Amino acid sequence: MSIISDDEILTEDKVSTKKNPVVKPEVEDGDKSFEINIRPKSFDSYIGQSALKSTLKITIEAAKKREKTLDHLLFYGPPGLGKTTLAGVIANEMGVPIKITSAPALERPRDIIGILMSLEEGQILFIDEIHRLNKVAEEILYPAMEDFYLDMTTGKSQTVKTLRVPLPKFTLIGATTKAGELSGPLRDRFGIIHRLEFYTNEELAQVIKRTADILDIKIDSKGAAAIARRSRGTPRIANRLIKRVSDYAIVKYDGKINETVANESLDILKIDEFGLDTTDRNLLKLIIEKYDGGPVGIETIAAAIGEDSRTIEDVCEPFLLQCGLLQRTPRGRKVSPQTYRHLGYKTQSSSQQSLF
Ligand SMILES: Nc1ncnc2c1ncn2[C@@H]1O[C@H](COP(=O)(O)OP(=O)(O)O)[C@@H](O)[C@H]1O
Ligand SMILES: [Mg+2]
Repeated sequence: MSIISDDEILTEDKVSTKKNPVVKPEVEDGDKSFEINIRPKSFDSYIGQSALKSTLKITIEAAKKREKTLDHLLFYGPPGLGKTTLAGVIANEMGVPIKITSAPALERPRDIIGILMSLEEGQILFIDEIHRLNKVAEEILYPAMEDFYLDMTTGKSQTVKTLRVPLPKFTLIGATTKAGELSGPLRDRFGIIHRLEFYTNEELAQVIKRTADILDIKIDSKGAAAIARRSRGTPRIANRLIKRVSDYAIVKYDGKINETVANESLDILKIDEFGLDTTDRNLLKLIIEKYDGGPVGIETIAAAIGEDSRTIEDVCEPFLLQCGLLQRTPRGRKVSPQTYRHLGYKTQSSSQQSLF
C-alpha cells in the first residue's frame, strides 16, 4: 500500500501550481486495477440508483421470461457514477458475456465491423463515450441495432455489390457523459434511456463501508460519513478518498479511520466540506472576485484558471451545478449567494475581501 509522500501533502502554495486531482471523477491510471476488485457484480451489491435498478430488474426479468435479448440501453450522467459498473451487473444478471469498448477505439469502419461480427448471440456490447462515435461508425451501427445485419460493399465502381450479413442478436449498452452530443438517430435506436443520479451521503457511506470491507480497512460509521460528505455524490471519488484516508491513518495513527482521522486527512488534501478542491474554489473565487459573481463565459473562466473548458464542463461543473454553487445562464456562468457564504465572502456587494 502506498503512503502519502511529502509531495502529495499539498501546502497552499504548492496547490496553486499543482493540480489536485483526488476529487476529480474521471478514471486515473491508479484506479484501474483497484476498480476491478471493488466493482459490484450484482444488483444487491450495486448501491443506490434505486429507481433505475427497479426498472432494470423488471426489464431483465421480462427479457429472460420471453427468452429474448434485452433492448438496447443508454446510460448517461457525469463520470464515476457507475455506468460501466451497471453494464457489467446487467450482463451478470442476464447471464451473458459482455464485450467492452469505447468510441475512440472504433475509429475505422473495420473496427466496428470487426467487433460486431465477433459477437455471440445474446451478448452485450458496451460502448463507452458513445457520443464520440464518428458518422461512418454510427451508420454501420444503425441497421445492426435495428435489424441485426451489416451492409457490406464489395468490388469497385461498376462491379460494386452490397452484401447483407446477418448478425447475432445482441444488446448494445451505450454510456455517455454528454447525452446532448449524441446524434438524434442514434439516440432514437435505444429502447431504454436512463440518467444516473448523484448519490446521497448515506449511499456513499455504504459504498465506502463496502470498499473498506473488501480492502480490509477499519472504519467506523462517522468516519465513513465524513468521507461520504466530501465525495461529491460520486462513488469513484469516495473509493479514491478512502484509500487516501487509509494511507494517512496508517502513517499517522493506528490505521483505523474515525471522523477525526477522516477530516484531518481530507483537510490536508485541501478537500473542503463540500468536496470542492482547489480548482473548484479557484473557479468560483474568480467569478466572485473578477466578475462580481458573473455571468461570465466558460472560455474566459477556462483561460483565467488555466484549465481546459471541456474539463471544466465535464468534470467540475456537474457537481457545482448540482449543489447550487454554480448556475448556468444564457450569458455565462454565475455563482449564488450560497457560494459567497461557502467561500467565506461577506455579501455579494462587498465581495472584494476573501476570508480564506
Ligand atoms: N452503485 C454503486 N455501488 C457501489 N460502487 C459503485 C457504484 N457505482 C460505481 N461504483 C464504484 O465506482 C467506480 C466507478 O464506477 P464506473 O462504473 O466506472 O463509473 P462510470 O462508468 O459512470 O464513470 C467503480 O469502481 C465502482 O466500484
Ligand atoms: Mg465508465
